[in-house]
Amino acid sequence: MPEPLSPIEMAKFAAARRALDFVEDGMRVGLGTGSTAAWLVRLLGEAVREEGLRITAVPTSDRTRDLARQVGIPLATLDDLRWLDITIDGADEFDGRLNLIKGGGGALLQEKIVATASDRMVVIADISKRVETLGAFALPVEVVRFGWQTTKDLIEEALVGLDVMGRTAALRLNHDRPFVTDEGHYILDLHLRRIGNARQLSLVLNQVPGVVENGLFIDICDVAVVGHGDGVVEVRDINNGTVVHDRLDVEEQENLFRDIGE
Ligand code: A5P
Repeated sequence: MPEPLSPIEMAKFAAARRALDFVEDGMRVGLGTGSTAAWLVRLLGEAVREEGLRITAVPTSDRTRDLARQVGIPLATLDDLRWLDITIDGADEFDGRLNLIKGGGGALLQEKIVATASDRMVVIADISKRVETLGAFALPVEVVRFGWQTTKDLIEEALVGLDVMGRTAALRLNHDRPFVTDEGHYILDLHLRRIGNARQLSLVLNQVPGVVENGLFIDICDVAVVGHGDGVVEVRDINNGTVVHDRLDVEEQENLFRDIGE
């Protein structure tokens, strides 16, 4: 019998399990990156293998591509499909308008391209990711390697006069080396503490030479599926203003853990 999940993993699993209901036969699906998205990829793989679900998926990172292949999900590139029906991904923070901070796992660039190229974006997250105001989580900004220190200075300068509480940028490291994204860039994490005007900040950041993209997702997400540690899931739809609560079926869940065979 597998170990029971911790409350946080249960919350992530519950969100991913509920988000599966948004995926229909024949859909082109963007697959997010991170620990919550990994649950979704495993569950989708199971639906493909055992229930004959037919989808074509575009992964948002090398990690997700490898996992999706391993669990048997048919893959394509965004250039093959050009447009997707749905993208399901995790988030580092989301607010009441379903604006997001993403990129904690370093995949924000592909994640933003794929989510933007989708009819619908569904975020899956545990309840700890919900915030009143974005910014406690350091905002990831993907920058080209050439002249990154100048780009960092320019970003810090651009932050003066913006409605943020902190203004320092730090190069993300992987052990003692710079972290390099799948697209070969660096990440600067901006310690802002509170972002007063996320839309303005996003526009300003993307004007700085050397910035490739930032981790603010403004008006991109349509639905948040939010998991709690006891298996309760809230589904918030920003377009029609509804909030629906469900509870994960425990029996079904036990079977899934067995099947997933973690
Ligand atoms: C990856 O770059 C991120 O955008 C993730 O989606 C985000 O960090 C959420 O990850 P977890 O689901 O692991 O919290």
